Amino acid sequence: MDMAVKAYIAQHRERFLDELIDLLRVPSVSADPAYKADVLKMAAMIRDSLLAAGADKAQVMETPGYPIVYGEKIIDPSLPTVLVYGHYDVQPSDPDELWESPAFEPVIKKTAVHPDGAIFARGACDDKGQMYMHVKAFEAMVASGELPCNVKFIIEGEEEVGSEHLDGFLEDHRELLAADVILVSDTGIISNETPSITTGLRGLSYLEVTVTGPNRDLHSGLYGGGVPNPINVLCEMIASLKDENQHITVKGFYDDVVELSADERDAMERAPFDQEAFKKSIGIGNVEGEEGYTVRERMSIRPTLDVNGIWGGYIGEGAKTVIPSKAHAKISMRLVPHQDSETITRLFKEYFESIAPDSVNVDVRPHHGGECAVTPIDSNAYKAASRAMEETFGKTPVPVRSGGSIPIIASFEKILGLKTVLFGFGLDSDAIHSPNEHYGLFNYFKGIETIPLFYKYFTEMEKA
Ligand code: BES
Ligand code: MN
Ligand code: MN
Repeated sequence: MDMAVKAYIAQHRERFLDELIDLLRVPSVSADPAYKADVLKMAAMIRDSLLAAGADKAQVMETPGYPIVYGEKIIDPSLPTVLVYGHYDVQPSDPDELWESPAFEPVIKKTAVHPDGAIFARGACDDKGQMYMHVKAFEAMVASGELPCNVKFIIEGEEEVGSEHLDGFLEDHRELLAADVILVSDTGIISNETPSITTGLRGLSYLEVTVTGPNRDLHSGLYGGGVPNPINVLCEMIASLKDENQHITVKGFYDDVVELSADERDAMERAPFDQEAFKKSIGIGNVEGEEGYTVRERMSIRPTLDVNGIWGGYIGEGAKTVIPSKAHAKISMRLVPHQDSETITRLFKEYFESIAPDSVNVDVRPHHGGECAVTPIDSNAYKAASRAMEETFGKTPVPVRSGGSIPIIASFEKILGLKTVLFGFGLDSDAIHSPNEHYGLFNYFKGIETIPLFYKYFTEMEKA
C-alpha cells in the first residue's frame, strides 16, 4: 500500500475504533418499531460520518420505510466509480440474558480466535463494523491524497427485514447510482489465516404457517384422542417435508436447481475445512443433511428447508392439560441458482396445503424472499479484490460460495446492471444474529487496510 494511506490508518487507529463503538451504542433494530427513533438517529450518524470522512455530499433519503443514506465523492467523471453498499440496521438482540455483556454496550475482549481482541456488540460484524471499514478507508484515502477514483455510498436501514424498499429506490435513482462495480463487506472469510472471497449467496423464501384445529382450546381429557391436535398435526406435516435422504419433498422444489460440475465441486473441497473442529465449535455430535453432498455443499450450493420457530399451546409454568386451537411455525428455505423465490413460495404453499388432513385448516402466509447471486471471478473487480487481499494477508484468497443471503445483490444486477464484489472480513464464529456477536479488531483494521488497495488495483485495471 502506498505509504501515506497506511501511515494515516496507523495514526488514527484509536479514533477509528472509538467511532465504531459510538455507532454500536445505538440500537438500530429495524425489526422492532420500538427502536424507530434509534434507527433514524443511526441514519443521521452515518450521513455525518460520510461528510466528516470527505464526501462532497451525503444525505438521508426517504423511502416508504427506513431511509437510505447516500453519499459521494466524484473526483473526475472520467475515472471509474465504486459503489459501496452496506446496512446500518441490526438484528434484534434477544435473548438478552445470553449476552455476557449488554448488546448495545460495546466491550473489547480477547478470544481464542481473536487474540488481539474483538468488539462485542450487536451489529459489530453484521454490518456496522464491516460497513464502517469503508467509511474509514475512504477517509484515509481522501486525507492522504490517494483516492484514485470516484466513490458512492448507499447504506440502507432495512436489510435485516428484507430490504423491502431498496428495489424501488434503485429504480428511481439509476442515474445517481451509476457506477462500475458494487463493493460490499457483509460476508466473511474462512479464517484470519485463510482469506477468501465470497462468490455466491443463496436466495431465500420465508413463510409462516398456521394450523387450526378446533375453534377453541379444549380439555385434553374430555376431547383428547378424538379430535385433531394442531400441534401434533403441524409436527407431522413438517416432518414429512423431508424424506429419509433429507431431500425436500415439496413438489417441483428441485426442478430449477443447477447441478455444479465435478470440477467446481472438487475446487470447493480444496478449500480448507476441519469437520471435527466444526462440530466442536457448535457443540453438535454429528453433522447431518442431504444424501450425496458434503457438509460444505449442503451449507452453500444446495437448497434447504428449516423451521425457524414453532409455537402454540401452553408454554407457561407448570402443566395445563389442553388441546390448543392453533399451532404456528416460521419456515425458511435457502435457494440456489436458478430457483426463483416466488415460485418456491408458491410451490411450498400448494404442497403444504395439499398434505393437510381434512381435520384441520392450514394458512400459509409468505414473508420476505430474495434471489440468490453468483459473482464472477474473472472480472477486474474480483482480480483487484484478490490482489488486495493477497497483499495484506500474504496469501491468495480462496473463492467460496456462502450459504447466507443478501437479496439486494441480485437486485443490483437486475436493476443497475452491476456486478458485485463480496469483500467481507467477518468469521463464521463471530456469532452474527446470535448473542455475543463480535468482530475482531484484526478484521476491522485488516479491512480498512485492504480496501484502499482494492481501489488502487481496480482503477489501474479499469484504466488499462
Ligand atoms: N450479512 C448477512 C448475510 C451473510 C452473512 C451472508 C454471512 C454471508 C455470510 C445479512 O445481514 C443477513 O443476515 N441476511 C439474511 C437475509 C435477509 C433477507 C434477512 C440472512 O441471510 O438470513
Ligand atoms: Mn448483513
Ligand atoms: Mn444479518
